[in-house]
Amino acid sequence: MKNIVLFGGGNIAQAVVEGLINADFKPDNIFYIDRNTRNQKALKKLKIKNLKKNASIKIDLFILAVKPKDAIEAYKQILNEYKDPKIVSFVAGIKSKKYIKLNQDIQFLRAMPNTSARFNLGITAIYNSSFSKNNLAKVSKLFKKIGIVMNLDNESKIDIFTGMIGSGPAYFFYLLKSYEKKLMSLCNQDKKKVNAAMVNLIKGVGFSIENNDNLDELIDAVASKKGTTEAGLKSFKSEKLDKIFEKGISAAIKRSKEISNEF
Ligand SMILES: NC(=O)c1ccc[n+]([C@@H]2O[C@H](COP(=O)([O-])OP(=O)(O)OC[C@H]3O[C@@H](n4cnc5c(N)ncnc54)[C@H](OP(=O)(O)O)[C@@H]3O)[C@@H](O)[C@H]2O)c1
Repeated sequence: MKNIVLFGGGNIAQAVVEGLINADFKPDNIFYIDRNTRNQKALKKLKIKNLKKNASIKIDLFILAVKPKDAIEAYKQILNEYKDPKIVSFVAGIKSKKYIKLNQDIQFLRAMPNTSARFNLGITAIYNSSFSKNNLAKVSKLFKKIGIVMNLDNESKIDIFTGMIGSGPAYFFYLLKSYEKKLMSLCNQDKKKVNAAMVNLIKGVGFSIENNDNLDELIDAVASKKGTTEAGLKSFKSEKLDKIFEKGISAAIKRSKEISNEF
């Protein structure tokens, strides 16, 4: 995959581009199509180029990274303007068959990344609809540059990944807001200090899991009988925090399925 084009250069596209460039993918080989001036500026800063209409560049891969409401229109634009494009869709909800019915011969697959791709710590789920084996291997190799890749055997699993992994970072940012609020008053509104504390908290959690894959053991290592952690956990349990969290994830998965019927 030499030349790639991001059709839609917003949040997720920028995260993926940054991750690819960190992994030594040359900015010269990354192009974008985007109508939003704020995003155009951000993309220019990343030193990638706008793909001009009728440019004589051989494009190896298009990545569709627009909101679901814009997806079919953008997809049709690619089909109309480029010969035999290979297309990866990041778009939540909309199923492969909606795209493939517009062109039966197209090589198409769905991928669901997340914004941690920016730091090469992404998780990308891939469901292959019609890529050849050889091209699928090339796409997997590309996404391995920005984190780990999970190949799915059933398209409905993409909805689950969308709710859990695509949306995943936001759930943790949301939980951290309670920490931030308390830490800010504790640290006399020193935002730098508070951020550093939150970063270490989350990084430490990540490294702990790398060291020990048993979450109960990790909890036990922090909680002692009749101690503070135990009191906190007891309160979480009595408020059924686990069920509340699961319910939130289920709502996101449900929404992903609904989007499919809306567009
Ligand atoms: N954000 C995430 O963390 C994440 C993770 C996984 C998957 N996704 C999926 O990725 C897709 C993009 O999400 P996002 O958050 O990156 O969206 P976004 O920030 O809104 O970026 C989309 C960009 O595409 C532009 N665009 C739309 N239609 C266009 C067209 N026909 N021609 C030129 N530019 C066009 C938009 O311009 P305007 O602003 O003018 O509309 C916008 O700049 C969504 O379908 C989402 O489900 C997102």
